[in-house]
Amino acid sequence: METKIWPQATAGREQNQVIKEAAALLRDQQVVAFPTETVYGLGADATSEEAVQRIFEAKGRPADNPLIVHVGERSQVEELVTHIPEVAKQLMDKFWPGPLTLVLPSNHQAARNVTAGLNTVAIRMPDDPIALALLKESGLPLAAPSANRSGRPSPTEADHVYQDLQGRIAGIVDGGPTGIGVESTVVDCAAEIPIILRPGGVTKEDIEPLVPDVIIDPALADQPGEQPKSPGMKYTHYAPEAPLWLIEGDDVFFREQLESMKEEGQRVAVIASQELAGQLNHEPVTVCGSRAQLTEVAGGLYRALRHYKKSEAEVILCESFPEYGVGAAIMNRLRKAATQKIKQY
Ligand code: TXA
Ligand code: MG
Repeated sequence: METKIWPQATAGREQNQVIKEAAALLRDQQVVAFPTETVYGLGADATSEEAVQRIFEAKGRPADNPLIVHVGERSQVEELVTHIPEVAKQLMDKFWPGPLTLVLPSNHQAARNVTAGLNTVAIRMPDDPIALALLKESGLPLAAPSANRSGRPSPTEADHVYQDLQGRIAGIVDGGPTGIGVESTVVDCAAEIPIILRPGGVTKEDIEPLVPDVIIDPALADQPGEQPKSPGMKYTHYAPEAPLWLIEGDDVFFREQLESMKEEGQRVAVIASQELAGQLNHEPVTVCGSRAQLTEVAGGLYRALRHYKKSEAEVILCESFPEYGVGAAIMNRLRKAATQKIKQY
């Protein structure tokens, strides 16, 4: 399959043409990647099992992992759910369009493979002009997971999508780098107490004023006594090409780990904040942002995880970040990406 790439349009008229062509492919049950404010999504008609099946095939995604349905209007939500709980209405009012996905009771109008057979459906309204224009022009609710091959870091640039999916999807709309850089927050509103299933662009601190009893899914907690995974273990999520070791400690601890690995003769690459990078006498280092600005780190994280090729490093050492605000999402992704966690006690 040839993958059509629409370069970033400069003029409004060009942009309209791009949206028309991409929406026509979507209506034709094809799969098209497009930017959102979080990461690039891989979209298809959420009401068509056949179109959604193409997403799973292109990504190599396990069939039991459900997809998020993207909508451009609130009325489209009503067509997909049995009812909208009060707390979900409040969250939509406050955070839509934006990086918040709500898990709601499904009325089974979404294709079966979108929800992976669950009784709930995950829905969000993205805050991106191209995504919203595509939703409007196609008139469809769009199922869209992140537009990466399963297991790889999510794409924050059109070129990341191209690297992973060229030849496997009908098209890619280039909208430049995405702003937020980590995926949306997923909140289960079908439960008695709303539960954050995945930390993301909307933080727990953002939600708390509206929903004081919101909790983070206890299954996401980093188990203190947990054994480090062996380096040879199969990569799971967001994985760079070389094994990632997550260093949880202060700057002195990080430097000690780096030095001892270098002494062992290992070829080590580093992902760090500009603050830590400035203290290291080492190459190569990729800076993902300032740790005083966690939103900047979120924006640079996946690009950094994609940076090193297998040939460049035997191990990647990565800094840890504070877990408040969007730091919760950053650390959630880094823990999933890591094959080893090295903690200072
Ligand atoms: O920011 C985002 O959310 C991006 C952009 C493209 O919108 N999309 C994204 O989709 O991250 P994906 O497929 O990579 O992640 C969807 C997450 C998964 O963790 C999935 O398990 C969860 O949402 N999910 C989907 N439907 C669900 C449901 N009914 N109940 C619980 N979790 C669900
Ligand atoms: Mg994903």
